[in-house]
Amino acid sequence: MLRLLLLLLALPLAALAQPAARPDTRQLLPVPAAVSWGQSRLPWQAPLRLRLDGPADPAVAPATERLLARLGRQAGRTKPTAQAPLLQIRYGKAGRMESFDEERYSLRVTPTGVTIDAPTSLGALRALATLEQLFTADRGRYYFPEVDIQDQPRFAWRGLLIDAARHFMPVSVIKRNLDGMAAVKLNVLHWHLSDDQAFRVESKVFPRLHRAGNTTPGFYTAAQIKDVLAYAAARGIRVVPEFDMPGHTTAWQVAYPRLASLDTIYPPYQSWRLSNIAFDPTKETTYTFIDSLLAELTPLFPDPYFHVGGDENDGRQWRRNPRIAQYMRANGMVKRDGTVDKHALQTQFNRRVLAMLTKYQKKMVGWDEILGPGLPPDAVIQSWQGKKSLYNAVKEGHPALLSSGYYIDLNLTAASHYAPDPLPADAPLTAEEKKRVLGGEAAMWAEYADSVVVDSRIWPRAAAVAERLWSPATVTDVPDMYRRLQVVAAELETLGLQHRRAPQQLLTMMAAGQPVAPLQTLAAVLEPVKEYKRHFQGRTYTPQTPLNRLVDAAPAESEAARVFHATLDSLLKAPRAKLTELPKTPASRRQLAYLRQQLNTWQQNDARVQPLLQLNPDLREYAPLSTQLTVVATLLLQRLEQLEKGQPASAEWLAGAQKQLETAQKPAGQAELALATKLPKELWAQP
Ligand code: ACM
Repeated sequence: MLRLLLLLLALPLAALAQPAARPDTRQLLPVPAAVSWGQSRLPWQAPLRLRLDGPADPAVAPATERLLARLGRQAGRTKPTAQAPLLQIRYGKAGRMESFDEERYSLRVTPTGVTIDAPTSLGALRALATLEQLFTADRGRYYFPEVDIQDQPRFAWRGLLIDAARHFMPVSVIKRNLDGMAAVKLNVLHWHLSDDQAFRVESKVFPRLHRAGNTTPGFYTAAQIKDVLAYAAARGIRVVPEFDMPGHTTAWQVAYPRLASLDTIYPPYQSWRLSNIAFDPTKETTYTFIDSLLAELTPLFPDPYFHVGGDENDGRQWRRNPRIAQYMRANGMVKRDGTVDKHALQTQFNRRVLAMLTKYQKKMVGWDEILGPGLPPDAVIQSWQGKKSLYNAVKEGHPALLSSGYYIDLNLTAASHYAPDPLPADAPLTAEEKKRVLGGEAAMWAEYADSVVVDSRIWPRAAAVAERLWSPATVTDVPDMYRRLQVVAAELETLGLQHRRAPQQLLTMMAAGQPVAPLQTLAAVLEPVKEYKRHFQGRTYTPQTPLNRLVDAAPAESEAARVFHATLDSLLKAPRAKLTELPKTPASRRQLAYLRQQLNTWQQNDARVQPLLQLNPDLREYAPLSTQLTVVATLLLQRLEQLEKGQPASAEWLAGAQKQLETAQKPAGQAELALATKLPKELWAQP
């Protein structure tokens, strides 16, 4: 009996020791809530015949037409036929994004047709995004696999912030990124429209606003904004504008010095550094200005939410102006240690702005820093500083969004953005507080992204955030995410995104008529330096600095280096692998052959690319990285040979290799050699 009991107890443990069977996610990203694959196919012979059953909605039929046209072009069969299978779409009501209407849907593909059922038109749009990803090529023939999908998002707010202030992003850039968002079911475009360097909306009331203060030209007219909003709405995407205040407002103050805290006339702001310039919140004229501007801007953006920033005001100008400091003292805005309390003054400012927004039927969204006493509970807090402020916000009754961990401008890996969960199982929140976590937003700040390279700084990594916000919390398999991310990256290209094309064009330009392949080989294993290091590494950028160097064509996350490292890792961790000898299974041999072939290409690349690097003054600063690529490739080839032959490396050899690797990790031209910076450490460990 006891033995049986022990056996029963041991069973679940044994089950845990087995790796769970990987769910069959195929090419779907984000992974749906529930998928059941069949054995059959629905072959594509001609565009499906649409049968739409639902109340009038401006989005679903055009979205379906666009989808069928794209698939037809891809499959080379665009002529509809009378016998084509049916695409039946049924939805209950026209969905309203701004009311957080349901995005749930069911999608069934059988050998005879496709059926989509959804409570709202929004669900139908999400189903169409899934249907597009189901389209599969098999030896030149296209089909949809038989499948039954029941899907719904985990979070209602799945955003992408695009900063159009630091670099202007023309309407075409915004539109193609809206297409990318729709493909991965992101549903909120957070349009960052003003900052120290520019104010990007044409104002009729304050016409100097979009001209005088702009360090680089570019603004959106009311008609262009309307066009973008219609384009977004047709894809089930809301647009929340951000006009950041009271800090991040140099451009406003260049145009209208009466807003300034200090008695200063500012020139347009020629730097990416934080200006620490803020409005004077003690003057009534500041509020009459903001009120008149909000009266003009709020009708342009129909979404009930309106973002007023509120971040990174350190209060130094308020302390420095004796009149403002005196105002703070007179109004009890004093900390326990007797110094003036800028947070109290900013809270008062927020309350005034909030009253205006309420008058214009808007709800306020702001960054962590707006959280303070007296902030009405329906103000939404967007947390960029960390989970702690997200949780503080919902504990104080506010809806909240997570952006900390989703800053895709930092050039970190997709895996690093995939991991942070707005609501992990151990979140210290009550059920009620959890409901207030609306979701999150990937943030594309654009100091180092102009309209040419911005797609490559957003995609495909933003798709990892999209999956985190849509799919069940249990979807966490990183290698499987990377596999699907590559499929989505290709899908995005067919949708018109330029994340692959634009960097290639930059390289072609740099090659100036010489063969571009060696430059591509080098760029493919480079990455820009991480986080905000680019501000501090040997070059002072201004808003005018062109972003056309090798660092700008380098991917934020090198796919070539990632696949190489993943293969090397798998080889080193294979069963029976020791650090003195590699396994000799067929799979291991294949991996080794791939690694060698890559390393040979990299080893030989320097000789091919150096003449080009030396020819072009802008490329010359990258010459050390090319040299180091050869050095690292040579070291790795030697190490693999040692491992393959079971020859132990001497302590001197390993120490020398370590030293060379350290050198190879040094950045040049604000780029680093991803092949060197991400090598598995155990490779060089003493066995
Ligand atoms: C922020 O990154 N200052 C919101």
